[in-house]
Amino acid sequence: MIMDLTATRYRDLILDSKGGFGTPNPQPYGGSYIPEVLLPGLQEIAAAFDHFKYDAGFLADFSDTLRTFSGRPTAFTPLPRLTEAIGGAQIFLKNEGLNHTGAHKITHCIGQILLAQRLGKQRIIAETGAGQHGYATAAVCARFGLDCTVYMGKKDYERQRPNVYWMELLGTKVVAVEEGSQTLNDAVIAAFKDWVANPDSYYLLGSAVGPHPYPAMNTFFQKIVGEEIRQQCEETTGRLPDYCVACVGGGSNAMGMFFDFLDEETVQLIGVEAGGRGTKPGEHAAKVKRGKKGIFEGYHSYFLQDEDGNIAATHSVSAGLDYCGVSPILAFLADEGRVQFETASDEAALAAVKKLAQLEGIIPALESAHAFAYAFELAAELPKDKIVVVNASGRGEKDLFITMRHFQEDSLIAYAQHLLQK
Ligand SMILES: Cc1ncc(COP(=O)(O)O)c(C=O)c1O
Repeated sequence: MIMDLTATRYRDLILDSKGGFGTPNPQPYGGSYIPEVLLPGLQEIAAAFDHFKYDAGFLADFSDTLRTFSGRPTAFTPLPRLTEAIGGAQIFLKNEGLNHTGAHKITHCIGQILLAQRLGKQRIIAETGAGQHGYATAAVCARFGLDCTVYMGKKDYERQRPNVYWMELLGTKVVAVEEGSQTLNDAVIAAFKDWVANPDSYYLLGSAVGPHPYPAMNTFFQKIVGEEIRQQCEETTGRLPDYCVACVGGGSNAMGMFFDFLDEETVQLIGVEAGGRGTKPGEHAAKVKRGKKGIFEGYHSYFLQDEDGNIAATHSVSAGLDYCGVSPILAFLADEGRVQFETASDEAALAAVKKLAQLEGIIPALESAHAFAYAFELAAELPKDKIVVVNASGRGEKDLFITMRHFQEDSLIAYAQHLLQK
């Protein structure tokens, strides 16, 4: 028995874990299934995390940097026009898109760069999907004076081009990965290869996935999101939310939102995965809903796999959700029944972007729009006294070239032609 769920609370189990989540059946989720050459590097990071997560000076530095560099706390916004239009529960938004660089990702980047600094590292490696983690990593590296290389699948490199531009402007080397499906999965593999070749570098992994300590460590840094929601929701409504809804790619924004509520039985936690354009393999990125247990990229969790157990192709209109695996902590919480999993399609996410923009003046990232799409359906079924909080993990400006194609194709073509004529 790895975890005694009757003796300890979820929060303590996760933060004090040595990397295994859930009871062994056949083994706990998480772990550290890595080539031996990476072991010293991971052990060094795990030891630093175990030490600094309880170090008052480190924690003060972390909150100070969140406040002065990223702009925390982020806003907690009532959505009265949407609530009225939907006609059910009251809907609120936690605006993580107001963070510096446009998404929640900067929070774990700040935590990890402060650790890397204490470890005396000079060079940072990272992977990115939507470009938000890469953009945030590039920003903290520039801020703290560290050399930075970011790997990005070629498909993501092309569809999230504005973020490539920002990373390069910040002085980061962006490498487009041409292997495999050319998405996040291939970027993670390329980043690990770099780390094998350069073990003195620090691998700044961008979600609650990967080998120990990344799932627990990124959850630890991101938990500020739920802590702020608790306080802001109590100040605004006099009580806790009834439902917390977050999109799930690897799981960092969902764990950030959920963590502080894990031991609150009245708060329902809902993770929304990318339903894409169908339920067949290669048409979606719904790991918990449609994946199988397995080990990949150093951890045991749910992955999208074919009949032979090979990693299957994924699809989502949002690059940040277009990934084959999910946080081992979320896999554990899903099996426990503590976190409910749902999906939202590409089409529903695009419609949610438009609805939120036109009724509330907020343009969410396509990733976050999946959470909104499901939350709108949920709120419509609930009585008016219920409170639904949605984590707007990022802002939608980065998706310009995707949303424009769906919403205003003619003007995009006209604009591209105009640029070509210059
Ligand atoms: C805005 C935004 N939201 C959500 C995600 C999904 O990642 P995670 O599940 O780790 O929060 C990403 C990933 O790039 C993102 O950019």
